[in-house]
Amino acid sequence: MRVLITGGAGFIGSHVAELCLKDGHYTVVLDNLSTGTMDNVPDGAVFYKEDICSQTVSEILAREKVDIVFHHAAQIDVQTSVKDPQADAMINIMGTINLLEACKQAGTRKVVYASSAALYGDPCYLPVDENHPLQPQSCYGVSKHVPEQYLQVYSRLHGLDFTVLRYANVYGPRQAISGEGGVVAIFINALLAGQAPQIFGDGEQTRDFVFVEDVARANLAAIYQGSGQVVNISTGKATTVSELYKIVKASCQVDCNPEYRPERPGDIRHSYLDSSKAQAILNWKPLVSLTQGIKQTVEYYRPRNKIVSKVQVS
Ligand SMILES: NC(=O)c1ccc[n+]([C@@H]2O[C@H](COP(=O)([O-])OP(=O)(O)OC[C@H]3O[C@@H](n4cnc5c(N)ncnc54)[C@H](O)[C@@H]3O)[C@@H](O)[C@H]2O)c1
Repeated sequence: MRVLITGGAGFIGSHVAELCLKDGHYTVVLDNLSTGTMDNVPDGAVFYKEDICSQTVSEILAREKVDIVFHHAAQIDVQTSVKDPQADAMINIMGTINLLEACKQAGTRKVVYASSAALYGDPCYLPVDENHPLQPQSCYGVSKHVPEQYLQVYSRLHGLDFTVLRYANVYGPRQAISGEGGVVAIFINALLAGQAPQIFGDGEQTRDFVFVEDVARANLAAIYQGSGQVVNISTGKATTVSELYKIVKASCQVDCNPEYRPERPGDIRHSYLDSSKAQAILNWKPLVSLTQGIKQTVEYYRPRNKIVSKVQVS
């Protein structure tokens, strides 16, 4: 297959690109390097430094005769989306429409879209399945949702197939310490720098942490399986932030207690997602345990030993 990964110089997209190459696909990365880096782009991938909003995207897709697009490029910062909703929508909504038009013109077969649990907002029930009401609490949640609807329409009108993958909190090597769900990277980098991470609230809030290599496998599974569906990509397990901290601390081999701060208004108390639909449709399930995944992530960061001065849990 000929595949293109938007955002392939970023955290998740670069793991998707790596796995595509490993599986023998002709792999193209399109990224404007706004948060991603060339260091993340795997050897063997064809790279275009381009914005998804650019008119050139359609030329690239046509030239590269792309069968599958994995769409990961996005403005991912929740706070930025609230401060500057127009800029957020320009990238996440208008950029996606530009990409879909390019796919239509180039005859691309399928788009695999990186969506988010942020669409669900504060859960009405747990675990959150794909039928849960969508009640985003930020502009980011809205701008990640709208492309899902465009995908439905492009599928109906133009026969462009799609699979939507709604990710829980993804963690692993190459994650930046800002952005969505970066708590694992934040904890690790703080501890390796000899600093005490801050935990907001009592630490009993729960999240669903899924390892990035498992997420990349779900993307690859969507090349051949699934058509026109929305699926959660998650472990289905709730982990408290305090439990997470203990695992990270043990893996870093650092004896340091976190600083507890008052809970922040608007923070979601509990969240974990049902991933049984992904198992049924994509024949996918997560394989890497939290302890294994954190160990691999610590091994990645240890030699880099980034200095972090202020850390937060999101
Ligand atoms: N990290 C998570 O836990 C998580 C959870 C749910 C959903 N997601 C989604 O997964 C995708 C990837 O997230 P990530 O954590 O790897 O983020 P990331 O910031 O590491 O990757 C995004 C990449 O997109 C590129 N990019 C941004 N705007 C662009 C534009 N206008 N044109 C071209 N390239 C552009 C950036 O340079 C970067 O390389 C995003 O769509 C995000 O919404 C992530």
